[in-house]
Amino acid sequence: MLFPLKGAFLAFVAARLANADLTVYTDGALASGWENWSWNTVLDFAATDLFEGTSSISATSDAWAALSLKLSQGDLSQYAGLRFDIAGAQPDIQLTIESTTDSAKSPTIPLSAISQSVTPTGFTSLVVDFNNLPGTGSQLGPGTWDRFSFQGGANGASYHLDNIVFVDSIIVEPKFLSAEPLINDVIAVTTQGAVDFNTISVKLNGQTVAVSSKTTYVPVDTPAKSITYLTLAKPFAPGPLVITAVALSFNYTLPAVQHGSVVQSVKTAINPQIYGVNWPPSASYIQHLGVTISRWGGNAVTPYNPFLDVTNAGNDWYFENRASENGNADAWIGWTKAAGSASMLTVPALDWVAKDATSYSYPKTIYPDQKAFDPYNPDAGNGQFSNGTALSPPTDPKRAYTAWNTTAAKQWLSSLKNKPTMVTIDNEIEIAHSTHQDMHPEPMSYDEELKRVIDFATVSKAALPNTLVGAPSTCSWWFYWTSAVGYTDNAAHYNIDFIPWFLAEMKKQSDKVGKRLLDYLDIHYYYQPDTSANDAAAKALRLRMTRSLWDTSYVDESWVGQDPQNHQWAPNTVQLIPRMKILINQNYPGTKLSIGEWSSTNDKDLTGGLVTADSLGIFGKYGLDAATYWATPDEMGPTGLAYWLYRGYGTFFGSSSAQVNLATPNPDTQSVYAGTEGGKLTLVIINKNPSTPISFYLANVPTGAYFIRHFGGGAGVAKWQTNITVKSDTYIVIPAYTAVFLKQK
Ligand SMILES: *[C@@H]1O[C@H](CO)[C@@H](O)[C@H](O)[C@H]1NC(C)=O
Ligand SMILES: *[C@@H]1O[C@H](CO)[C@@H](O)[C@H](O)[C@H]1NC(C)=O
Ligand SMILES: *[C@@H]1O[C@H](CO)[C@@H](O)[C@H](O)[C@H]1NC(C)=O
Ligand SMILES: *[C@@H]1O[C@H](CO)[C@@H](O)[C@H](O)[C@H]1NC(C)=O
Ligand SMILES: *[C@@H]1O[C@H](CO)[C@@H](O)[C@H](O)[C@H]1NC(C)=O
Repeated sequence: MLFPLKGAFLAFVAARLANADLTVYTDGALASGWENWSWNTVLDFAATDLFEGTSSISATSDAWAALSLKLSQGDLSQYAGLRFDIAGAQPDIQLTIESTTDSAKSPTIPLSAISQSVTPTGFTSLVVDFNNLPGTGSQLGPGTWDRFSFQGGANGASYHLDNIVFVDSIIVEPKFLSAEPLINDVIAVTTQGAVDFNTISVKLNGQTVAVSSKTTYVPVDTPAKSITYLTLAKPFAPGPLVITAVALSFNYTLPAVQHGSVVQSVKTAINPQIYGVNWPPSASYIQHLGVTISRWGGNAVTPYNPFLDVTNAGNDWYFENRASENGNADAWIGWTKAAGSASMLTVPALDWVAKDATSYSYPKTIYPDQKAFDPYNPDAGNGQFSNGTALSPPTDPKRAYTAWNTTAAKQWLSSLKNKPTMVTIDNEIEIAHSTHQDMHPEPMSYDEELKRVIDFATVSKAALPNTLVGAPSTCSWWFYWTSAVGYTDNAAHYNIDFIPWFLAEMKKQSDKVGKRLLDYLDIHYYYQPDTSANDAAAKALRLRMTRSLWDTSYVDESWVGQDPQNHQWAPNTVQLIPRMKILINQNYPGTKLSIGEWSSTNDKDLTGGLVTADSLGIFGKYGLDAATYWATPDEMGPTGLAYWLYRGYGTFFGSSSAQVNLATPNPDTQSVYAGTEGGKLTLVIINKNPSTPISFYLANVPTGAYFIRHFGGGAGVAKWQTNITVKSDTYIVIPAYTAVFLKQK
């Protein structure tokens, strides 16, 4: 009796093994059914300098080049994950899985999100779970997946791979991942797999506290982890809080409250257009994050030819023409509007736009002495002599461009079927001598920039009478105050800094023609402190630097704080929004303020998400009129989640900003923003401390039912949300490194 059963069992196992995993590479060559679709990569499929078995794959990729492998037939959708062994000095590569049928692509998965300890001396075995993609926690989902690539970064990459297998199943070990105190009496517990909540016990000040109810939530786009909110029978209070789950313990010291109050009756309207981004990828993105305005902007829109839908990359990529990757501007305004977003369209205002999708300005055949050539088009150079100076004499703009002027702009704008909410007169043209040196080699002066803005604003207003005009979309602090000509240009204009001079001149011209030509002062703002190290000190600095948006006493922790180079009052403080509002009031009252580009400085790090949430709170509180993030934060990354926090899926922060008074403001380590609409309160509270919870007594926070969203802290980056009851305003806890949104129901 035993034998037949055992035989059947063996046959079953053998069948599973035969069908189960799909080998891509073991030794010597790719497994049959796999094709090499790599590019600009030196590959050896039988490397013997480092290997398991008899050989490995060695790969050396140029900048942005990839080892890319394609399944000849069929697809990979039935597999649970990808397992591979890798050796290298933590190479800068990212994995994507693609479909050659419909061009779908997985989120990019940086190797660093899978492992940060890959070494060159031996292989590290890694698994990518398709139900829990490293970095985002999202699913690969159904699709005709048939190709995967390991793409190198800007400096290329060198590494070995071995034993590459698509696996049939991945066993997820049930686990408690985090447990944190939230608001009055809730413990937020994240888990994977089927854990037993009966193993949890909570002790507050040494006393065991019972759990009175629990509710679980699974985010729709990151279902591998879930969150369970345990409501305690007793509220939090200062002192030790210990949560134990199986063998884990999560320990906190709940701090004494900081006192404050919220006054809903003292309020100012929030302009909803502060919640914008550049280049939203889809209508669902606009809806999921609640994007209010979409910008068509950046260096490549200056040479955008709207009659042919082609553009030129400028010095971002070897001055090469290409098809507009965002298609046709008119159609783009149409679909972003249909998705619920306003639009901010850039109007080219130099003398040239791309003439086709293929030409480039600096062919090697004409300029053999150049510093760099496009690895994908060895004839296209970067426009610099090998010593790094710009090529001279200047190239002929006709090589890549066709003429552009106000007549063409008017013709285009008049023909738009979909009208933009707002246009800006070009993008950062004060640095055109660099970004577009091939067609505007001369430094842009005060006078030239003003003339271009007036000329193109005039035709924009003529073609689109209801569209608002923004300018000059200046790139940075330095050029707010001077021009590329240098300080002789300031001197030639009574030593008035550029922006105040520009505002006054726009007022003069508008008064002359009897019509407002400038509705928005549009600037780009990039935080200047260097946080690139992304270590603990850099993260703390990143979280402090948002003070530059509003705080008149915050000396910028960058070159601006030391050597500000302008004729401004308190020049080493940025105080961006108040400063610009003063300059507007002095020089062209009634002009709105917009920030067409800004960035948290790190879209992938949690602190970048907290900076974004903080900045959005500041924009509302200090009365900014519009802002669009550069460029497109990942919907599931921390920066995207800051938008979701305020605006996701139709649940919005209030229409007005309400007064918040804190006895201990501590803007370096925390922020509290209040919104109000129809008498209902919304709060966004951000705890910038990396490891300690904070707590508040916020007088006038009504008790009762609230909808709550949060991300960060131990719970990590996901769209966590639930309904809770706020039982008291006297002890409200926010976990470390967390942004919380609370909306009264
Ligand atoms: C793989 O393809 C790339 C790109 O076509 C090519 O350069 C490389 O030589 C190929 N490698 C092997 C080992 O076939
Ligand atoms: C947490 O507290 C418990 C009980 O006091 C203690 O046994 C444990 O070591 C603590 N764990 C940590 C990580 O501090
Ligand atoms: C760079 O090289 C070019 C061409 O050889 C030359 O004309 C120019 O003077 C050089 N510039 C500098 C700063 O060395
Ligand atoms: C723009 O260029 C076209 C074609 O060369 C020309 O007919 C037109 O007059 C120009 N418009 C202006 C304002 O210079
Ligand atoms: C919160 O309550 C609303 C009803 O007011 C319900 O539609 C929603 O699904 C609840 N959300 C969660 C996360 O439980």
